Amino acid sequence: MRMSVIGTGYLGATHAAGMAEAGHEVLGVDVDPARVAALAGGEAPFHEPGLPELLRRHVASGRLRFSTDPAEAAEFARLHFIAVGTPQVKGSHAADVRHVDAVVEELVPRLRGEHVLLGKSTVPVGTAARLQDRADALAAAGATVEVGWNPEFLREGRAVADTLRPDRLVLGVDPDRGGAAEAAARECYAPLLAAGIPLLVLDLPTAELVKVAANAFLATKVSFINAVAEVCEAAGADVVELSRALGHDPRIGARYLHAGLGFGGGCLPKDIRAFMHRAGELGADQALALLREVDAINIRRREKVVGMVKAAFGGLALGRRVAVLGAAFKPDSDDVRDSPALSIAGQLALAGAEVRVHDPEAMGNARRVFPTLDYRDSVGEAVAGAELVVVATEWRVFRELDPAAVGALVAERRVLDARNCLDAPAWRAAGWEVTGLGR
Ligand code: UGA
Repeated sequence: MRMSVIGTGYLGATHAAGMAEAGHEVLGVDVDPARVAALAGGEAPFHEPGLPELLRRHVASGRLRFSTDPAEAAEFARLHFIAVGTPQVKGSHAADVRHVDAVVEELVPRLRGEHVLLGKSTVPVGTAARLQDRADALAAAGATVEVGWNPEFLREGRAVADTLRPDRLVLGVDPDRGGAAEAAARECYAPLLAAGIPLLVLDLPTAELVKVAANAFLATKVSFINAVAEVCEAAGADVVELSRALGHDPRIGARYLHAGLGFGGGCLPKDIRAFMHRAGELGADQALALLREVDAINIRRREKVVGMVKAAFGGLALGRRVAVLGAAFKPDSDDVRDSPALSIAGQLALAGAEVRVHDPEAMGNARRVFPTLDYRDSVGEAVAGAELVVVATEWRVFRELDPAAVGALVAERRVLDARNCLDAPAWRAAGWEVTGLGR
């Protein structure tokens, strides 16, 4: 099947490559010529394990092409995925749907015949119905455009596997239209459906809400365990052991229950805020007051870590040498959007500490966001002479560090494990003072 994917960020580029892998002919479209050139050369413009291999394979096979021209998408395919970003509006909690709107404005007037637009971007509930009205108004004489919503649940760092083998496919459609959106989705996802992946066909607002509700639930789970961590700190209990004991209950489950520096990234933080904002617009704000607390608990973890570093130096970090290991918002990603690791590195630098940062993949992005930090190319350079080491992102290379070897480089063997990811007994045995969060 031929299809276009408009927007080639973390979501769109992976979806485009994944659909080529599923056997389709795919055209990826983006306004950024540098990104399009990289993708067309089979290069991923961001770190995503497994994606470069897929891109190279399908650019070479001719099944995957990229362009900056929406007119090409209109010519090439009858099915178009919308995968552009919906960032947080500056100075508000709302999601900025400008790019989603722009796709409809640019593409729809160029369409001839019967087309389907499937939105994958995370949007405020009600957006799909509004876009359908707009598409009806913009469609040329004789052209029909049906809008469906097909939210995406992929995680950065596991995006390829999540695209090819998702837990479920969700599709929102308007039951009063002709059924073209559902037919297109079933044809596109046929290989996944044949493999037994469930497809849930819902109405448009329910499908839009599934996505934000899923992210809100995950964020709530993380903040729940981090709130319990605060109590553990006060009571002298260990949140890591507690979380393990909770996870044995299948009603609770062990995943998304790792206490630490909290959640960040381009999705969870902005999605819970946009959810609250939209609920407020709809007059249902009381239902989501919970999420204000989820957000506050999450930000408190960052403040807690900055406070712990200062306390390690008797209350004043001025001039003290601190190594921060990690800048990405999570391992296996180079994304630093709303990264807890970069946030604490920045706050410590602003408090006068001499902060050195190392991350295996995110240094380029971190430098762009926070150019004044001292970035070092290796763990060894970052920790050399440090009076305190903070592990802020749980990359495997950090979890597997040899405490004796690192110990030979630092000025003081003190580590703050802000992700509770180190083998604390092994570090202690090597002469380190180890502090975790909620332990
Ligand atoms: C999240 C969702 O997990 C995806 O399902 C969704 O598709 C995606 O947002 C999106 O909306 O596009 P992602 O942002 O890649 O995916 O990140 P997660 O793996 O969910 O992690 C989010 C944050 O929570 C990270 O900073 C991570 O370190 C933190 N986290 C996660 C914890 O602090 N504790 C945990 O137990 C789990």
